[in-house]
Amino acid sequence: MKVYKVVVVGLGKRGMHHAAAFNNDPRFELTGISTRDTAKLAKAAAELQVTHFGDDPLAISREVTPDIFCFCTPPTVRLPLIQVGIESGARLIAYEKPIALSMNEAIAIRKAVNDAGIKTVVSHQHRYGQHYQKVKEIIDSGALGRIHTVYGHSAGWMLHLLTHLVDYMRWYNGNAEAEWVMGQAAGHGKLADAHPSPDTVAGVIQFSNGVRGWVESGAGAPDVPEVDYWWRKCRIGAQGTDGFAEVLTGGGWRAVTREGASSGEGCMNYDLDMPPYVHDMARWLDDDNQVHPCNGESAYAGFEIAMGILRSVIERGQIKLPLGPGEPELEALEKVLPQRPVLLSHEGNRKEYL
Ligand SMILES: NC(=O)c1ccc[n+]([C@@H]2O[C@H](COP(=O)([O-])OP(=O)(O)OC[C@H]3O[C@@H](n4cnc5c(N)ncnc54)[C@H](O)[C@@H]3O)[C@@H](O)[C@H]2O)c1
Repeated sequence: MKVYKVVVVGLGKRGMHHAAAFNNDPRFELTGISTRDTAKLAKAAAELQVTHFGDDPLAISREVTPDIFCFCTPPTVRLPLIQVGIESGARLIAYEKPIALSMNEAIAIRKAVNDAGIKTVVSHQHRYGQHYQKVKEIIDSGALGRIHTVYGHSAGWMLHLLTHLVDYMRWYNGNAEAEWVMGQAAGHGKLADAHPSPDTVAGVIQFSNGVRGWVESGAGAPDVPEVDYWWRKCRIGAQGTDGFAEVLTGGGWRAVTREGASSGEGCMNYDLDMPPYVHDMARWLDDDNQVHPCNGESAYAGFEIAMGILRSVIERGQIKLPLGPGEPELEALEKVLPQRPVLLSHEGNRKEYL
């Protein structure tokens, strides 16, 4: 059994989740860590018992020559660390969503990793939750009949959550390609956030198998009153000719089929979702056919949908996919969004958006 050496860069909330998950799995050896924050670095190195650590990710990677280069930095830091990952000689780069802040950057990342022949995995790990899996099982069993609609919405804003929603909608729809999208957005408040986004956005997706996708994130997205914890107010599901099944990120799953109504538990939980998420990286490195469910190509397809929706707000009308390079979407959006406060779908959103 091969043990894969790992370097983790960025040691905030998600970096520590990743470092712990790699550390706890015998298929990996967490060999190096790196972050800008030197106080955090020494503490984390002691805690994780890592011998190679420093504030220069490239220097650490050269010392360690990892099999997996993992980085969990804010969304502003992507392409430069992808380049460090390629230079490190790693066979797999694992990183956080969103994959980029513009389509241009996503295209550059995809080209760089494909040219280098490197696998990538992006952390849309909610799908490992038992409630997410149950909905997929119900869809695949045929109990909903012919699926005609997939949907997802979140109270949290676009670059935090919309790529999660789209990733699971695509999964529930058999990863069918998107042919075109159309969208609308409002509100400048979150454009200056670390996850820059319109305050609210809604999009329609035409999938190649005829299924319709509906996605919304932010201040105007419907509430999920069954869930108390604001960040977990997300609903993702599928409707078919015979019923529907949906997951609530913080509130289990439910379905109505020909046989009647059913429901069950489940709540997004890093402690439960991270171990199988990292373990599947070892399986993919062992065997090219065991493609990771959160592979970078899938994340790219989801990001393209997200940026297509923004281009529709900017240019108006339907946007045909795939997308080529263009004006950075978030900068262009700032110029076209009306200077009016966003309207809320429920009072619970007031503290975040107004
Ligand atoms: N998949 C999920 O469920 C999930 C949940 C929360 C956050 N995220 C994503 O994870 C990413 C990180 O979020 P977080 O909550 O861990 O943030 P954080 O602020 O807690 O941590 C970010 C870390 O990156 C370090 N850093 C910043 N710039 C760096 C650089 N140039 N080089 C090296 N290190 C650098 C910071 O010092 C910090 O340690 C974001 O993209 C966020 O969207 C994903």
